[in-house]
Amino acid sequence: MNPLRTLILAAAGNDAVRRAVATAPVSRDVVRRFVAGETVASAVDATADLVEHGLRVTLDYLGEDTSDRTVAERTVRAYLALLDQLHETGLACDAEVSVKLSAVGQALDERLALDNASRICAAAEQCGTTVTLDMEDHTTTDSTLRVLAEVRRAWPATGAVLQAYLRRTLEDCHALEGARVRLCKGAYAEPASVAFSDPHEVDLNYVRCANALLAGSGYPMFATHDPRLVEIVAERARWHDRAPDSFEFQMLYGIRPAEQARLAAEGHVVRVYVPFGEQWYGYLMRRLAERPAAVAFFLRSLVSR
Ligand code: FDA
Repeated sequence: MNPLRTLILAAAGNDAVRRAVATAPVSRDVVRRFVAGETVASAVDATADLVEHGLRVTLDYLGEDTSDRTVAERTVRAYLALLDQLHETGLACDAEVSVKLSAVGQALDERLALDNASRICAAAEQCGTTVTLDMEDHTTTDSTLRVLAEVRRAWPATGAVLQAYLRRTLEDCHALEGARVRLCKGAYAEPASVAFSDPHEVDLNYVRCANALLAGSGYPMFATHDPRLVEIVAERARWHDRAPDSFEFQMLYGIRPAEQARLAAEGHVVRVYVPFGEQWYGYLMRRLAERPAAVAFFLRSLVSR
């Protein structure tokens, strides 16, 4: 892995760095480029704007890795309030939510995470929308897939995320035949024993997995900004005779917005992953790690305000 990327990912988990950045006068513009805002209202506003431009949305209430039941409960309530607002504003048919199990208690107790995820899925169903369970580092993959399997018994439309950098992922694609599956490259620092470290190998595995998902009967969601992968997926979708509404592209809020608009104008379903909330630090660091050139810009914003 690129040493700068490793360093930034290490900083993402370092409390001293976290405190320094969180209390520094970070330019609002840098954070606002990738994060919709800190409140439910700001998330709903960003959603309305994207939907008006022909895009769909998945919303992520920022926060992860909690070992505190109160924090997990606060996260569940934030999702319930968000779903309520999406319903009230008529946006629920174009917007779903993405949930990290570690934010709703997975590290404390898998059962608690299942119960909390189920509460969010039930509320989403009542509002006429769905949930996708984000995937985190490889130590949580089995647990997340177990919770997903349980949740899908009652809410079969609940989506999974699979990461192409993991060696196991092609097998997981087959195991999740028929499901809604978001395929991404993977964002965590993983050991070579479980993950491909060569970016070319990750891309090859992405294409293998994309083919498997497109050949199946599920609803694949291709989460990537990589122009080559977008092109290959679009070509493979045509080859598999996929109708335009039988798969979608997904990109992150603030990243390649012109490409999001272009794909939507071509008739593709495009969904934007919109993070919001006060806990933006870890998310922002992962985005910077993907694009070390942006780090200089970010560091400048820490000192100049
Ligand atoms: P890659 O990083 O190789 O980038 C390809 C190109 O995209 C770059 O050359 C550049 O042009 C552009 N680009 C990428 N990042 C950029 C940036 N920050 N700023 C500007 N341009 C940029 N991961 C995970 O582990 N678990 C999860 O649940 C999810 N969920 C998820 C949902 C959605 C909708 C998306 C789009 C992504 C995720 N991810 C994720 C993150 C994912 O695993 C991956 O880390 C990022 O998407 C970056 O990988 P790319 O496929 O974009 O390719």
